[in-house]
Amino acid sequence: MNLMNSEKPAAPPPDTNKAAPPPPEVGSASRTAAATTRRAGTNERSRAEARDVDFFYGDFHALKKINLLVYDRRITALIGPSGCGKSTFLRTLNRMNDLIEGARLEGSVTIDGQDIYAPSVDPAELRKRVGMVFQRPNPFPMSIFDNVAYGPRIHGLNNKKTLGEIVERSLKQAALWDEVKDKVKQSALALSGGQQQRLCIARVLAVEPEIVLMDEPASALDPNSTYRIEELMQEIKADYTIVLVTHNMQQAARVSDYTGFFLKGELMEFGATEMIFTTPEKKATEDYIRGRFG
Ligand SMILES: Nc1ncnc2c1ncn2[C@@H]1O[C@H](COP(=O)(O)OP(=O)(O)OP(=O)(O)O)[C@@H](O)[C@H]1O
Ligand SMILES: [Mg+2]
Repeated sequence: MNLMNSEKPAAPPPDTNKAAPPPPEVGSASRTAAATTRRAGTNERSRAEARDVDFFYGDFHALKKINLLVYDRRITALIGPSGCGKSTFLRTLNRMNDLIEGARLEGSVTIDGQDIYAPSVDPAELRKRVGMVFQRPNPFPMSIFDNVAYGPRIHGLNNKKTLGEIVERSLKQAALWDEVKDKVKQSALALSGGQQQRLCIARVLAVEPEIVLMDEPASALDPNSTYRIEELMQEIKADYTIVLVTHNMQQAARVSDYTGFFLKGELMEFGATEMIFTTPEKKATEDYIRGRFG
C-alpha cells in the first residue's frame, strides 16, 4: 500500500481473528529436492524426482548432483546455455541415455516413488509412460493416421474403430485435427514443419503418457506455429505433466509453472517460474534470463 497517497482509503485494521495464510511451503517433496524448490504450492504433488543425479559420458561429467522435482500437471521449463546438460537431464527421465555407449548414471530417478532404473523396469514400457517430443519434427514416412496409430498398434491395439477414435482424439489434443481431418491417409511428410511437430505431439499423446518431455519443440518453427504449440501445451497440461527444454526465455516465462536453470551440468536454481524470473537468487540466473550471457 502506498502510505504517501492520502487520497487512498486507509487500510482496514488487520483482522486478528482470521488465520494468517499458510507460509509458502513444499508439498510431497523429499527434503533434498524440496530444499532446492522455491515456493511450490502446498497442493502440489510431485510425479518425478531426481535425487543426487550424476551423469557421465565416459569420463565427461555432464550432470552434477541434480535434485529436482517434476510436479503433476504442471509445466516445468529447463533453461540454460548450450551444452549445460538440459537435454541430458531430460533424457534421464525416460532412460533415453541408455542407448548411448559409455554413458552412466549415479543417484536415483523415481516416478511415483518407483526407481525407473531398477532392473525390473522395462525401458520400452517406461517410454510409453514418459513420452518425448524432439527439437526437429520426425514423422515416420507413412500416413498421418498411421503415424498417430503407431504407438497404440505397437502396444497391441488393432481394433479399427478404437484406433480411429484414438487418432481423432490425439489430433484434436494436438490442435491439428481441423487441418488434416480430410487427409489423414495422406503422407505425413507432406505436412508443414509446424504441422509435423503437432503430429509428433499427437503421436506421443496417442499412447496416453503420464509425462511428456519436450526438447526445444518449437525452436525450428515460425512464430505462429510456436504460438500453437505453446497454446496446446497449456491445454494438455490439465491431463499431462510436461517438462520443456527451451532457449526461449519468453516462452519459459509464458508457459511454465516451474523453471530450472542449468549451468555447466549443475542445477543452479529451481522454483516457481514467476520467482525465478522476477527475483532470481543467483547472479548467474539473473544474467542468463536478462540475456547477458548464453
Ligand atoms: N552422446 C554424447 N556423448 C558425449 N558427450 C555428450 C553426448 N551428448 C551430450 N554430450 C555432452 O554433454 C554436455 C551436455 O550436453 P546436452 O546436450 O545435455 O546440453 P544442452 O544443455 O541440451 O545443450 P543445447 O542447449 O545446445 O541443446 C555437452 O558438453 C555435450 O557435449
Ligand atoms: Mg539440448
